[in-house]
Amino acid sequence: MLWARALVILGVVCPAVAATVTCATCHKTEALSQPATSMGYALELVSDCTILREHPRLTFQYGRYSYTITRQGERSIYSVTDGTDTISVLIGWAFGLGSAGQTYVFERGGILYESRVSFYKAIAGLDLTFGALGTTPKNLAQAAGREMTQEDVTGCFACHSTDAVRGFTFHPEDLKAGVLCENCHTLAPRHMQAVMAGDAKAAAMPHLAGMTAEETNEFCGRCHRTWADIAAHGPHNIANVRFQPYRLTNSKCYDADDKRIRCTACHNPHEEFLVGASNYDAKCQACHSGKRKSCRVAKQGCTNCHMPKIELPGAHRKFTDHQIRIVRAGERYPE
Ligand code: HEC
Ligand code: HEC
Ligand code: HEC
Ligand code: HEC
Ligand code: HEC
Ligand code: HEC
Ligand code: HEC
Repeated sequence: MLWARALVILGVVCPAVAATVTCATCHKTEALSQPATSMGYALELVSDCTILREHPRLTFQYGRYSYTITRQGERSIYSVTDGTDTISVLIGWAFGLGSAGQTYVFERGGILYESRVSFYKAIAGLDLTFGALGTTPKNLAQAAGREMTQEDVTGCFACHSTDAVRGFTFHPEDLKAGVLCENCHTLAPRHMQAVMAGDAKAAAMPHLAGMTAEETNEFCGRCHRTWADIAAHGPHNIANVRFQPYRLTNSKCYDADDKRIRCTACHNPHEEFLVGASNYDAKCQACHSGKRKSCRVAKQGCTNCHMPKIELPGAHRKFTDHQIRIVRAGERYPE
């Protein structure tokens, strides 16, 4: 704890130093890469939002409703008109970095709404929000967006941002954009104080690297949804391909106690996930090596054949099926 002692002394001598200590002061590796990941950018403030800045005017037509999103300095205005009446609001928050898409949340008359249209990278423009597919607006307000319940609000912000939800209430004044250190390392603020005070006992943190596959599934599943969430509430169709903890658990490779098949065996949560099958061969071979357990067909590129990419209709992106398996031609999607 030499670090801590040095900082305590500095803090006593110069309070300004103590005030500027952040996680990055002591955990450089994680702090250098994590904020730039898509989780770090799971929510953006409108003033900083790259997509809205790079697309100063976006338009979309749905039946008789015309949509525009226009940039004005640091702000973006979302307008919907049916030709007679118009709803024009400031966008409050931008959800999603846009690997697939970005959805907007706005306030109107004290109520928060989820925009009925979203930006999609694949088409570099607007289309219906995934959750709005198959619904028909009855009036202009519904054409603008979906009224969010209290549960929707706290849910969205708890999964996409940090410090904005306490208990079941939304605290926009404390919101930090994106999934940051403290969202996953819940005791971190106390830990930081304690390390600086040299109190080893209070500085103790849950050791996340010690989690089993099942514990990791539950941990990541708080946001990516757990096996139990999907088993109980569905969807029981191709739309569940985006819920990796559910898919992985249904795979024959899955063993609740085996760390070689936990999420963090393949993904470092502090870095952007790696694209390309060659990055994962060694992960498979940690279990599949030797004559009995290896593949008769190929010696590399495992995930190309055994974790197929599946297009989710309306989402404008492909997801990687985490139900690792032998994929037979013309097979039905295993739900
Ligand atoms: C003044 C230095 C300092 C600051 C600031 C600090 N930590 Fe730590 N952190 C430590 C030390 C020392 C350890 C213990 C390392 C060990 O046990 O090997 C540690 C351990 C950890 C661990 C590992 C626990 C484990 O065993 O797996 C996590 C996670 C962690 N810190 C997160 C954070 C986060 C998040 C922040 C910011 C809110 C933060 N820390 C701020 C010094 C610091
Ligand atoms: C607090 C909620 C939360 C937790 C906990 C969480 N995630 Fe995420 N994760 C998200 C959100 C939200 C996104 C979507 C970010 C975006 O693209 O806007 C995401 C995106 C990702 C992506 C990138 C997907 C893409 O298409 O760009 C990976 C990989 C990922 N998470 C892995 C993990 C792993 C592994 C864990 C557990 C160690 C985990 N996540 C825990 C909320 C969370
Ligand atoms: C239980 C946690 C959770 C809740 C609640 C939640 N999300 Fe997400 N969201 C995620 C995760 C995890 C991902 C990344 C995987 C995926 O795309 O399904 C994601 C992805 C997204 C994406 C696509 C991001 C991208 O980069 O392409 C958008 C947009 C989005 N969410 C918006 C919202 C909005 C708006 C709400 C509230 C109405 C919401 N989410 C509620 C966890 C959540
Ligand atoms: C999406 C969730 C998530 C976020 C956000 C996150 N971490 Fe972690 N962190 C984890 C998990 C899970 C582990 C355990 C990793 C493993 O199994 O190897 C971990 C491990 C650590 C460790 C211990 C490393 C070790 O070798 O045991 C430190 C230190 C740490 N994180 C610091 C940070 C800091 C600092 C930030 C913010 C810059 C941060 N984390 C953001 C999930 C997260
Ligand atoms: C055995 C390795 C492996 C494990 C374990 C694993 N993943 Fe993945 N994951 C991958 C591969 C491979 C990709 C796709 C990489 C690419 O695009 O080339 C991926 C992609 C993702 C993505 C990006 C969206 C997508 O579907 O393409 C998310 C999010 C994700 N994983 C989350 C998780 C979570 C959460 C867990 C734990 C439940 C997990 N992964 C466990 C190998 C793994
Ligand atoms: C924790 C160890 C472990 C890891 C990591 C692992 N597997 Fe497996 N895998 C198994 C076990 C155990 C079985 C079941 C063998 C049996 O039933 O005889 C299996 C079965 C399979 C099967 C046959 C499934 C079927 O439908 O019959 C394939 C294909 C497979 N694994 C591919 C992979 C690929 C590709 C990866 C990496 C993305 C991987 N495995 C990672 C342990 C693992
Ligand atoms: C070109 C596609 C392809 C690639 C790449 C590939 N496999 Fe396979 N694999 C298959 C097919 C097809 C089968 C089923 C063969 C059969 O019918 O017996 C199979 C079977 C398997 C099985 C089941 C073996 C058994 O006897 O039950 C395992 C395990 C497996 N592969 C793992 C891997 C691993 C690990 C890798 C990467 C080192 C890999 N595969 C690369 C197509 C592929």
